Amino acid sequence: MEFNIALVPGDGIGPEIVGSTVKVMDAVASRFNHTFHYTTYLAGGCAIDEFGEPLPKVTVDGCLASDSVLLGAVGGPKWDHLSGNSRPEKALLGLRKALGLYTNLRPAALQPALASSCVLRPDIADKGFDLMIVRELTGGIYFGERGRNDSGDAAYDTEAYSVAEIERVARRAFEIARKRRRHLTSIDKANVLETSRLWRETVHRLGQTEFPDVLLDDMYVDNAAMQLIRAPSFFDVIVTSNMFGDILSDEASQVTGSIGLLASASLGDSSRGMYEPIHGSAPDIAGKDLANPIATILSAAMMLRYSFNLSEEADFIEQTVSNVLQQGWRTADIKEPGAETWLSGSQMTEKILSEMI
Ligand code: IPM
Ligand code: MG
Repeated sequence: MEFNIALVPGDGIGPEIVGSTVKVMDAVASRFNHTFHYTTYLAGGCAIDEFGEPLPKVTVDGCLASDSVLLGAVGGPKWDHLSGNSRPEKALLGLRKALGLYTNLRPAALQPALASSCVLRPDIADKGFDLMIVRELTGGIYFGERGRNDSGDAAYDTEAYSVAEIERVARRAFEIARKRRRHLTSIDKANVLETSRLWRETVHRLGQTEFPDVLLDDMYVDNAAMQLIRAPSFFDVIVTSNMFGDILSDEASQVTGSIGLLASASLGDSSRGMYEPIHGSAPDIAGKDLANPIATILSAAMMLRYSFNLSEEADFIEQTVSNVLQQGWRTADIKEPGAETWLSGSQMTEKILSEMI
């Protein structure tokens, strides 16, 4: 099969990890007889430098015309002085909105080979965990009305959700739960927020009418932050709002041992999605060949699975990564405490490629 992929490497370590991932995708393409065509677009800080804006129209149009988008990361200290809509992060938010990507999947599992880098107490880590965070991505406080008063000494951001917005992401979450362990936890702050009360009502109504076979429970977000550390094995699928999902997914990633391992998929109603590691642009290690490419490589696996329906190919990538980790190969971010050697980003990529042969 043939696919057109838009590459949006972005800033910092973005180009390195996207470059590694393209090599892995090409290896998969030749093994399984597919052709991937790539077109690269600028977004984030590099687009500000080149075009004076974080998300140029040519990038949006190119992504809209593609079968799927692979993104690295955006942002860095060079652009930190910019405000609001001029910031590199605006590129991410703008792409999510323009592509209608309202569902963000962020899987977090403890790789058996990495149990020793897990920050949890051994008796908790030993139970293992494998959870999927489903984060609402185009609504809530990220996109609500915001502003300052005339004198500039007060500001506001608004959390707003409609039933339709809640339903479409919750439906996705229920469907995913159905393919896993049939347990969905909806996370909110319904003891305080009206949007959360609407969220809870809507998710329950949907559960009763369409997904009676999925066990649904609710948790307040503060408690969820605690349970992710205390008893992560409790969770199967989590569904939550944009901001709670942002925060909890970073927490979940650390619980697995490294943010350098976690992939994400952003999906809408069409098969076109945007796939990116959940980590940022890591400007401190950019250009040093230190970045772990695995999160981006696993994001590409999600692209094959969710956008192109190539699950065998996706499994192949995931299995290869897990074999390489099992063999003990580590990049700096996941090295054993006290280890004196580790692989560079490009060496890790080579290991993965050679494991594929
Ligand atoms: C993420 C990031 C973004 C977000 C930022 C960079 C806008 O933290 O993808 O989790 O908050 O969504
Ligand atoms: Mg985040």
